[in-house]
Amino acid sequence: MKRITKAVFPVAGMGSRFLPATKASPKEMMAVVDKPLIQYAVEEAVAAGITDMVFITGRNKRAIEDHFDKAYELEAELEMRGKDELLRIVREVIPAHINCIYIRQTEPLGLGHAVLCAQPVVQDEPFAVLLADDLIDGAVPVVKQMVEVFRRHQCSVLGVQNVPREQTNQYGIVSSTALETDLELVNGIVEKPNPEVAPTTLAVVGRYILTPRIFHHLARVQAGAGGEIQLTDGIAALMQEEKMLAHRFNGMRYDCGSKLGYLKASVAFGLRHPEVKDEFAAYLGSLK
Ligand code: G1P
Repeated sequence: MKRITKAVFPVAGMGSRFLPATKASPKEMMAVVDKPLIQYAVEEAVAAGITDMVFITGRNKRAIEDHFDKAYELEAELEMRGKDELLRIVREVIPAHINCIYIRQTEPLGLGHAVLCAQPVVQDEPFAVLLADDLIDGAVPVVKQMVEVFRRHQCSVLGVQNVPREQTNQYGIVSSTALETDLELVNGIVEKPNPEVAPTTLAVVGRYILTPRIFHHLARVQAGAGGEIQLTDGIAALMQEEKMLAHRFNGMRYDCGSKLGYLKASVAFGLRHPEVKDEFAAYLGSLK
């Protein structure tokens, strides 16, 4: 029986949809209320029992490493000033039992290539992939839901949800047959099909559990949509050999790679934040 102990976070992307905010700092460090997107993703992995966080980084991403490192000067300063609550928040960014591992993707060759860069660390274990700009708010964290599916079926699992047909060209789209409630057996996957030709509207949204055999395929796939090595194409090849499931997760997903999704997430999380929720709700109510 295999367990999932490693999560891969591809964070080398340019974040061009958020320029100029992302000119000099990573998009994954953009905060929803007071926490960067990448921290939400890491917390989701921690909640699923994952202990090794593998970040695939690139140029201009050093802020991510600093964020998950110990901040001696800041901690000393907060301690000296008796700011205990802030000190606790800073120290809890990453629990002590978690390992952070950083690998540089030196060229932007695509999401599939980024995942392939994790092979020397992941080796022959199944692992999770989380795309931090998909912020998913679930009563049970989504990766935890998917780890549970993996525990029962011991095969790759894709996190999916239905999207409006006009948006199929933004996602990997799966064809499948129903297996159980919220669980589908995948029999096809295609990257960003146009709405007229999309086989379904069931989209992969930034959460994957993959068996290590994916590396074999990622090393062989040719550049696909957009001239990049697509994770979707690796998955399509893997699916020919191994059982592949899609989990219709329970939770609200915010596409924080888009301005509108990011604003919606900020409102939703702001309305729940203990420090500001009442005043923020009153303010939003006063706008109409
Ligand atoms: C990537 C994947 C796509 C997936 C999406 C989820 O696309 O290539 O298959 O559906 O993430 O957010 P990107 O958003 O990087 O263009």
